[in-house]
Amino acid sequence: MKRIAVMTSGGDAPGMNAAIRAVVRTALERKVEVYGIRQAYAGLLNGDMSLMTSREVSGILQRGGTILQTARNEEFKTAQGQMKALRRINEKGIEGVIVIGGDGSLRGALALKKLGVPVIGVPASIDNDIWGTNMSIGVDTALNTILDALDRLRDTATSHNRAFVIEVMGRNSGYLALMGGILGGAEVIITPEKEISMEEVAKQMEDAYVRGKSHAIAVIAEGASYRTTELVSFLNERHTGFEIRLTILGHIQRGGSPTAFDRLLATRMGRSAVERLLAGETGMMVGLDGREIVTHPLEDVIAKTREISENYYEMAWELSR
Ligand code: ADP
Ligand code: F6P
Repeated sequence: MKRIAVMTSGGDAPGMNAAIRAVVRTALERKVEVYGIRQAYAGLLNGDMSLMTSREVSGILQRGGTILQTARNEEFKTAQGQMKALRRINEKGIEGVIVIGGDGSLRGALALKKLGVPVIGVPASIDNDIWGTNMSIGVDTALNTILDALDRLRDTATSHNRAFVIEVMGRNSGYLALMGGILGGAEVIITPEKEISMEEVAKQMEDAYVRGKSHAIAVIAEGASYRTTELVSFLNERHTGFEIRLTILGHIQRGGSPTAFDRLLATRMGRSAVERLLAGETGMMVGLDGREIVTHPLEDVIAKTREISENYYEMAWELSR
């Protein structure tokens, strides 16, 4: 293999740049050229790509976002779009592709593999909703951003005897809400996987008030079935003892310099992706299993759901008393 390509796709995640750097430098060290595809599958369809040099990835290890940019693209989901992508790949003489992205992006990677293109996926999404890896790139940084916000909000909540409802990201996954809640000392945690009713949220807040707490924090994942604003209105009507305030953290969670953990994870995964591709592996995703970087078939990755251990919910409940 003499020429490969790399793209970042779907929602951006801190550490994507560290992964790009690792891919480019690992490949160049092995005398393999690397095309950087801009704006993911959209760029692939438009032929928006150029060969990358080692200097182009200098000084990006610590930067959030992605220098290759990212995009969502509907055309690539169609058979026609995929044929067009294959044509672009052949035009450029690309012999293998590395896709860095979330669940949807990895579905796209599998589509390329099915067309006969050698492909390796690298999991990057702050949601930590990808099966086959303990952690995806960006999760640790996002979690630290959430904790920073939670700590600050608790300071002001305690000073005023208030309760805060804090919405964190997680379209289909409550990982950030659960871990953020446990590590930020929340009284109530609401996730799509184990949702509690608004009535129950009010009860838990009242309980915290009656037990003499000076504040109450409820962390809710954006994927919960009721809107956060709905919950706040409900709580205000119920008079839980606390005055209620709402904070939606939003895209702040997606930006920022990657933590040491994310830089290392991205660097190891990027390097491993190139090594596996050059060794002839295809249709696989690299993942973290204990201390090791392993691979799993993309078919399994997209078919299976990453479960959160029940133990964490029990832990959250017991430690919030
Ligand atoms: P993420 O990768 O963060 O989960 P998306 O779900 O938006 O983000 O997916 C990113 C892109 O991956 C989509 O815009 C589309 O171009 C591509 N993609 C998603 N699902 C598929 C699919 N089933 N087949 C082919 N491409 C897909
Ligand atoms: O997939 C990561 C994620 O952050 C989700 O939690 C969130 O719903 C989504 O991306 C929002 O992405 P965007 O605003 O880019 O559409």
